[in-house]
Amino acid sequence: MTDKRNILVTSALPYANGPIHLGHLVEYIQTDIWARFQRLRGQTCYYVCADDAHGTPIMLRARQDGITPEELIAATQKDHEADFADFLIGFDNYYTTHSDENKEIASDIYLKLREDGHIRTETIKQAYDPEAEMFLPDRFIKGICPKCNADDQYGDNCEACGATYAPTELKNPVSAVSGATPIEKDSEQYFFKLSDFSEMLKKWMFEDGHVQSEIANKQSEWLEEGLQDWDISRNAPYWGFEIPDAPGKYFYVWMDAPMGYIASFKNLCDKTDINFEEYWGKDSKNEVYHFIGKDIARFHTLFWPAVLYGSGYRTPSAVFCHGFLTVNGQKMSKSRGTFIKARTYLDHLKPEYLRYYYAAKLSDGVDDIDLNLEDFRQRVNSDLVGKVVNIASRCAGFIKKKFDNQLSAELPEPDLYNEMVAAGEHIAECFENREYSKAVREIMAQADKANVYIDDKKPWVLAKEEGQEDNVQKICTQGLNMFRLLMTYLKPILPETAEKSEVFLNTELLWNNIEQPLLSHTINKFKPLITRIEQEQTDAMTEDSTENMPVAEVVTGPLADDPISDEIQFDDFAKIDLRIARIIKAEHVEGADKLLQLTLDLGGQSKNVFAGIKSAYKPEDLEGKLTVMVANLAPRKMRFGLSEGMVLAAGPGGKDLFILNPDDGAEPGMRVK
Ligand code: 2FM
Ligand code: ZN
Repeated sequence: MTDKRNILVTSALPYANGPIHLGHLVEYIQTDIWARFQRLRGQTCYYVCADDAHGTPIMLRARQDGITPEELIAATQKDHEADFADFLIGFDNYYTTHSDENKEIASDIYLKLREDGHIRTETIKQAYDPEAEMFLPDRFIKGICPKCNADDQYGDNCEACGATYAPTELKNPVSAVSGATPIEKDSEQYFFKLSDFSEMLKKWMFEDGHVQSEIANKQSEWLEEGLQDWDISRNAPYWGFEIPDAPGKYFYVWMDAPMGYIASFKNLCDKTDINFEEYWGKDSKNEVYHFIGKDIARFHTLFWPAVLYGSGYRTPSAVFCHGFLTVNGQKMSKSRGTFIKARTYLDHLKPEYLRYYYAAKLSDGVDDIDLNLEDFRQRVNSDLVGKVVNIASRCAGFIKKKFDNQLSAELPEPDLYNEMVAAGEHIAECFENREYSKAVREIMAQADKANVYIDDKKPWVLAKEEGQEDNVQKICTQGLNMFRLLMTYLKPILPETAEKSEVFLNTELLWNNIEQPLLSHTINKFKPLITRIEQEQTDAMTEDSTENMPVAEVVTGPLADDPISDEIQFDDFAKIDLRIARIIKAEHVEGADKLLQLTLDLGGQSKNVFAGIKSAYKPEDLEGKLTVMVANLAPRKMRFGLSEGMVLAAGPGGKDLFILNPDDGAEPGMRVK
């Protein structure tokens, strides 16, 4: 017998200024399934989390809402906890990083690092908003991308072209707080000397499965380049913990956030008899795992292990990264109704549907997973309702009606039962390795076997025949025992249905006693366990998630100056063939003061177009951009050559002309409809 394992798992701490959405839930569901699986297998497994309650966005959001940050984070935490509880996420403790425990842990860790020479100070130049009188995080500076000229981009990266840069490189930067132009100002900052830990990290990263190889390889690029020291301080006004002996300087939110894992666990230990040291002490033999999204791997696989190591804590047993969620194949979008909040989902659908669907898609890798709403309905309906619950509903009636809810004394097909028990080891291995999609596939293969058995034996036919009572009882006993196995395997994913099944089968579903079938055992009345998902439900959820652009009550501006044209029929519109085009060349036209000559690529075919946009664009600003063109407009002979179409632009003219850009993902040649 192997020793019982003692495990602590965490999920990333959600920021306390926004709602939980289906993207977040990938991780909480993934972690929760793992924790429930471990407990079901007899291990000790604690699952803790907390709200990530500090930082500039929370400070500003509270200010905007006219409340204190404390009020904002308390209200958000309440909502988060309700969402998690309703998604059956079974935390052992849910806390906040704005806690006494966390304050003490953050300051102890910092002092320990300082004592050992891992902290240094340096005066650096930073962007400062002279109007709001505050230093600005990169995210609060907006301007024109230095690489592609896209407007309204953040100070650290461009969402249009993906470039990363320093905020000082942005063109026309403005503060998102006040609209003022940021200035540069000197200030003394505190740095954690991450480079002191290069050797330790190089070893840790590639040892004992601490980090998935795709993530480790990515991080090792940073290690090879040489680790930069990490600025862990922020200037007042800031919402967080003040740094010891440094008035007006606060810990950067990413410094005290992961410490929230420890603080939440400490808070749990103080309420129970769990021994804190055994989990977090330097010589801990217990296991600690962090489940996170791949976007925050650097914090968790470089900074965090180094901070822990440098301050005398144990390092994580592993950091498990997962990919992002797309909905219907695309990034979640408010206008498409696919940015779905946890609460909106719960208003229409049961949590277990999503838990099952995510499990059916999750692997141990970092690939993104897609929630395709049609596939979601079909998969849940066919697997859970059509395959699993169906076994119970087909057998339960006979056992109740004819045998007073009593199962037979033996199984007619013990080999079939034992085969399904044996499959449990592979299923367990898949859960252990976070290969949930494989576990689900295997469970459904077993469900198929059980259904074939019942289809084959047809108890509903035998029930009508004389002298077949015994057989009917045995077949249904076999069926219900197979159902019990399936529900045991599914229990980490479907805790609520498992609980209802326990009531129905009149037994606790435990993985360690599955070899023993339920025989001569009295069950309870069968009640429907899971209902089908109807399309109306997912449609209503999408509709509730669709945010319309706000409509002004009084029409002013462009619409008032240039009212909407006379109505046309769809066929009129359909005659216009609009296509995505890439501007591969843009040049001045000799002798023309309004025109630019554009060479447009439609994905294999090119068009020459003269566009009257010279007053608003420099040729070099256009090259490489995607736009929309009327592709079937009759060619027009102009003084300078043939124009084979038209690009679309808005605005009154002069400097105020704006050509249309499609959203990310569009490709030259695609029809616009
Ligand atoms: O990215 C985020 O949403 C962070 N709030 C995650 C923090 S995880 C941990 F380090 F606290
Ligand atoms: Zn850009």
